Amino acid sequence: MSGCGHDPAPPPAKDGKTRVAILISGAGSNMAALLEAAKAADYPAEIAVVISNNPEAAGLELARRAGIEALAIDHRPFGKVRHDHELALDAAMRLRGVEVVVLAGYMRILTAHLVRAWEGRMLNIHPSLLPNYPGLDTHARAIAAGDAEAGCTVHLVTEGVDEGPVLGQARVPIEPGDTAETLAARVRTAEHKLYPEALAAFIEQRKTAPV
Ligand code: GRF
Repeated sequence: MSGCGHDPAPPPAKDGKTRVAILISGAGSNMAALLEAAKAADYPAEIAVVISNNPEAAGLELARRAGIEALAIDHRPFGKVRHDHELALDAAMRLRGVEVVVLAGYMRILTAHLVRAWEGRMLNIHPSLLPNYPGLDTHARAIAAGDAEAGCTVHLVTEGVDEGPVLGQARVPIEPGDTAETLAARVRTAEHKLYPEALAAFIEQRKTAPV
Protein backbone atom coordinates (compact mmCIF):
# COMPACT_ATOMS: atom_id res chain seq x y z
CA MET A 1 0.00 0.00 0.00
CA SER A 2 1.03 3.52 -0.58
CA GLY A 3 0.00 4.93 2.74
CA CYS A 4 -2.15 7.52 0.99
CA GLY A 5 -5.34 6.54 2.76
CA HIS A 6 -8.71 5.49 1.47
CA ASP A 7 -8.89 4.96 -2.30
CA PRO A 8 -12.11 6.17 -3.92
CA ALA A 9 -13.84 3.82 -6.34
CA PRO A 10 -11.88 4.07 -9.61
CA PRO A 11 -13.59 4.86 -12.90
CA PRO A 12 -14.56 1.68 -14.76
CA ALA A 13 -12.15 0.46 -17.43
CA LYS A 14 -13.39 0.84 -21.02
CA ASP A 15 -13.92 -2.40 -22.95
CA GLY A 16 -11.87 -4.38 -20.43
CA LYS A 17 -8.79 -2.26 -21.16
CA THR A 18 -6.15 -1.81 -18.48
CA ARG A 19 -5.90 1.77 -17.24
CA VAL A 20 -2.35 3.07 -17.58
CA ALA A 21 -0.61 6.21 -16.31
CA ILE A 22 2.42 7.48 -18.22
CA LEU A 23 4.99 9.44 -16.20
CA ILE A 24 7.25 11.80 -18.12
CA SER A 25 9.73 14.62 -17.52
CA GLY A 26 10.54 15.86 -21.01
CA ALA A 27 9.87 15.51 -24.71
CA GLY A 28 7.55 12.56 -24.38
CA SER A 29 8.35 10.82 -27.65
CA ASN A 30 7.85 7.39 -26.05
CA MET A 31 4.63 8.67 -24.53
CA ALA A 32 3.50 9.78 -28.01
CA ALA A 33 4.26 6.30 -29.38
CA LEU A 34 2.20 4.75 -26.58
CA LEU A 35 -0.70 7.16 -27.17
CA GLU A 36 -0.63 6.31 -30.86
CA ALA A 37 -0.64 2.56 -30.19
CA ALA A 38 -3.47 2.94 -27.67
CA LYS A 39 -5.73 4.40 -30.37
CA ALA A 40 -6.17 0.92 -31.83
CA ALA A 41 -9.42 -0.70 -30.76
CA ASP A 42 -7.64 -3.95 -29.93
CA TYR A 43 -4.79 -2.39 -27.92
CA PRO A 44 -5.17 -3.69 -24.34
CA ALA A 45 -4.31 -0.41 -22.56
CA GLU A 46 -6.23 2.81 -22.16
CA ILE A 47 -4.03 5.78 -21.27
CA ALA A 48 -5.89 7.20 -18.28
CA VAL A 49 -3.53 10.08 -17.52
CA VAL A 50 -0.10 11.54 -18.28
CA ILE A 51 1.77 13.07 -15.35
CA SER A 52 4.98 15.07 -15.34
CA ASN A 53 7.11 16.28 -12.43
CA ASN A 54 8.22 19.06 -14.78
CA PRO A 55 5.46 21.55 -15.66
CA GLU A 56 7.46 22.60 -18.74
CA ALA A 57 7.62 19.09 -20.21
CA ALA A 58 6.72 19.31 -23.89
CA GLY A 59 4.98 15.95 -23.59
CA LEU A 60 2.18 17.46 -21.47
CA GLU A 61 0.95 19.64 -24.31
CA LEU A 62 1.32 16.76 -26.78
CA ALA A 63 -0.87 14.59 -24.55
CA ARG A 64 -3.51 17.29 -24.15
CA ARG A 65 -3.64 17.78 -27.90
CA ALA A 66 -4.27 14.04 -28.17
CA GLY A 67 -7.23 14.43 -25.80
CA ILE A 68 -5.55 12.78 -22.82
CA GLU A 69 -5.64 14.29 -19.33
CA ALA A 70 -2.16 15.63 -18.56
CA LEU A 71 -1.14 16.82 -15.11
CA ALA A 72 1.95 18.59 -13.83
CA ILE A 73 2.82 17.58 -10.28
CA ASP A 74 5.93 19.67 -9.76
CA HIS A 75 8.46 18.08 -7.43
CA ARG A 76 10.07 21.39 -6.48
CA PRO A 77 7.53 22.66 -3.91
CA PHE A 78 8.13 19.42 -2.01
CA GLY A 79 11.83 20.28 -1.56
CA LYS A 80 13.84 17.32 -0.41
CA VAL A 81 10.79 15.39 0.76
CA ARG A 82 10.66 12.97 -2.14
CA HIS A 83 8.11 10.77 -0.44
CA ASP A 84 5.53 13.57 -0.17
CA HIS A 85 5.80 14.28 -3.89
CA GLU A 86 5.31 10.59 -4.57
CA LEU A 87 2.23 10.51 -2.34
CA ALA A 88 0.71 13.24 -4.51
CA LEU A 89 1.56 11.22 -7.65
CA ASP A 90 0.21 8.04 -6.13
CA ALA A 91 -3.05 9.73 -5.09
CA ALA A 92 -3.58 11.21 -8.57
CA MET A 93 -3.09 7.80 -10.16
CA ARG A 94 -5.36 5.93 -7.75
CA LEU A 95 -8.08 8.56 -8.14
CA ARG A 96 -8.08 7.76 -11.85
CA GLY A 97 -8.23 4.01 -11.39
CA VAL A 98 -4.73 3.45 -12.73
CA GLU A 99 -3.67 -0.20 -12.75
CA VAL A 100 -0.27 -0.04 -14.47
CA VAL A 101 2.34 2.75 -14.42
CA VAL A 102 4.64 3.37 -17.37
CA LEU A 103 7.76 5.49 -16.85
CA ALA A 104 8.72 7.14 -20.14
CA GLY A 105 11.67 9.43 -19.60
CA TYR A 106 10.66 10.12 -15.99
CA MET A 107 13.83 11.66 -14.58
CA ARG A 108 13.29 11.16 -10.86
CA ILE A 109 14.71 8.34 -8.79
CA LEU A 110 11.78 6.76 -7.00
CA THR A 111 11.80 5.90 -3.30
CA ALA A 112 11.11 2.39 -2.09
CA HIS A 113 7.62 3.54 -0.97
CA LEU A 114 6.35 4.21 -4.48
CA VAL A 115 8.21 1.27 -6.00
CA ARG A 116 6.70 -1.12 -3.46
CA ALA A 117 3.21 0.39 -3.86
CA TRP A 118 3.32 -0.44 -7.60
CA GLU A 119 5.53 -3.51 -7.47
CA GLY A 120 4.99 -5.74 -10.50
CA ARG A 121 2.83 -3.03 -12.10
CA MET A 122 5.40 -0.35 -13.00
CA LEU A 123 7.45 -0.45 -16.21
CA ASN A 124 10.41 1.61 -17.41
CA ILE A 125 12.30 1.94 -20.66
CA HIS A 126 16.05 2.34 -20.52
CA PRO A 127 18.26 3.26 -23.50
CA SER A 128 20.73 0.36 -23.30
CA LEU A 129 20.81 -3.39 -23.45
CA LEU A 130 20.57 -3.97 -19.70
CA PRO A 131 22.37 -5.18 -17.67
CA ASN A 132 24.89 -3.17 -19.70
CA TYR A 133 25.04 0.54 -18.95
CA PRO A 134 22.51 1.26 -16.24
CA GLY A 135 22.33 4.98 -15.35
CA LEU A 136 23.12 7.94 -17.61
CA ASP A 137 25.15 8.54 -20.80
CA THR A 138 24.44 5.07 -22.11
CA HIS A 139 25.16 5.83 -25.78
CA ALA A 140 28.51 7.53 -25.19
CA ARG A 141 29.54 4.64 -22.95
CA ALA A 142 28.57 2.01 -25.54
CA ILE A 143 30.52 3.85 -28.26
CA ALA A 144 33.56 4.34 -26.01
CA ALA A 145 33.57 0.63 -25.19
CA GLY A 146 33.72 -0.22 -28.91
CA ASP A 147 30.43 -2.17 -28.80
CA ALA A 148 29.03 -3.41 -32.10
CA GLU A 149 25.43 -2.91 -31.03
CA ALA A 150 23.28 -0.94 -28.67
CA GLY A 151 19.59 -0.96 -27.90
CA CYS A 152 16.89 -0.46 -25.34
CA THR A 153 15.22 -2.44 -22.60
CA VAL A 154 11.74 -2.43 -21.10
CA HIS A 155 11.82 -3.73 -17.56
CA LEU A 156 9.79 -3.88 -14.38
CA VAL A 157 10.82 -1.26 -11.84
CA THR A 158 12.39 -2.53 -8.65
CA GLU A 159 14.26 -0.76 -5.88
CA GLY A 160 17.61 -1.07 -7.65
CA VAL A 161 17.99 1.53 -10.42
CA ASP A 162 17.61 -0.08 -13.90
CA GLU A 163 17.75 -3.53 -12.34
CA GLY A 164 14.28 -5.04 -12.60
CA PRO A 165 13.23 -8.11 -14.60
CA VAL A 166 13.51 -7.56 -18.35
CA LEU A 167 10.25 -7.63 -20.33
CA GLY A 168 11.73 -6.94 -23.77
CA GLN A 169 14.75 -5.62 -25.63
CA ALA A 170 15.44 -4.22 -29.10
CA ARG A 171 18.89 -4.11 -30.69
CA VAL A 172 20.37 -1.64 -33.18
CA PRO A 173 23.83 -1.58 -34.76
CA ILE A 174 26.45 0.97 -33.76
CA GLU A 175 27.68 2.38 -37.09
CA PRO A 176 31.19 3.71 -37.77
CA GLY A 177 31.23 7.44 -37.04
CA ASP A 178 28.26 7.29 -34.69
CA THR A 179 28.09 9.97 -32.05
CA ALA A 180 26.03 9.71 -28.87
CA GLU A 181 23.39 11.81 -30.69
CA THR A 182 23.16 9.71 -33.86
CA LEU A 183 23.07 6.53 -31.83
CA ALA A 184 20.44 7.98 -29.48
CA ALA A 185 18.22 8.77 -32.47
CA ARG A 186 18.53 5.19 -33.78
CA VAL A 187 17.81 3.73 -30.36
CA ARG A 188 14.88 6.11 -29.86
CA THR A 189 13.23 4.82 -33.04
CA ALA A 190 13.58 1.28 -31.67
CA GLU A 191 12.12 2.40 -28.33
CA HIS A 192 8.99 3.70 -30.02
CA LYS A 193 8.29 0.24 -31.43
CA LEU A 194 9.42 -1.77 -28.41
CA TYR A 195 7.54 0.06 -25.65
CA PRO A 196 3.99 -0.29 -27.03
CA GLU A 197 4.67 -3.95 -27.88
CA ALA A 198 6.17 -4.74 -24.48
CA LEU A 199 3.34 -2.97 -22.63
CA ALA A 200 0.70 -4.88 -24.60
CA ALA A 201 2.45 -8.20 -23.99
CA PHE A 202 2.81 -7.40 -20.29
CA ILE A 203 -0.89 -6.59 -19.95
CA GLU A 204 -1.99 -9.70 -21.83
CA GLN A 205 0.26 -11.84 -19.67
CA ARG A 206 -0.99 -10.13 -16.51
CA LYS A 207 -4.60 -10.93 -17.40
CA THR A 208 -3.85 -14.63 -17.42
CA ALA A 209 -1.52 -14.53 -14.39
CA PRO A 210 -2.45 -11.49 -12.27
CA VAL A 211 0.31 -10.19 -10.01
C1 GRF B 1 14.36 7.64 -23.61
O1 GRF B 1 15.62 7.55 -24.21
C2 GRF B 1 14.19 6.57 -22.59
O2 GRF B 1 14.89 5.40 -22.89
C3 GRF B 1 14.79 7.19 -21.36
O3 GRF B 1 14.41 8.55 -21.43
C4 GRF B 1 14.24 8.92 -22.79
C5 GRF B 1 12.89 9.56 -22.90
O4 GRF B 1 12.68 10.19 -24.13
N1 GRF B 1 14.31 6.53 -20.17
P1 GRF B 1 11.24 10.73 -24.52
O5 GRF B 1 10.86 11.79 -23.50
O6 GRF B 1 10.29 9.58 -24.51
O7 GRF B 1 11.40 11.33 -25.88
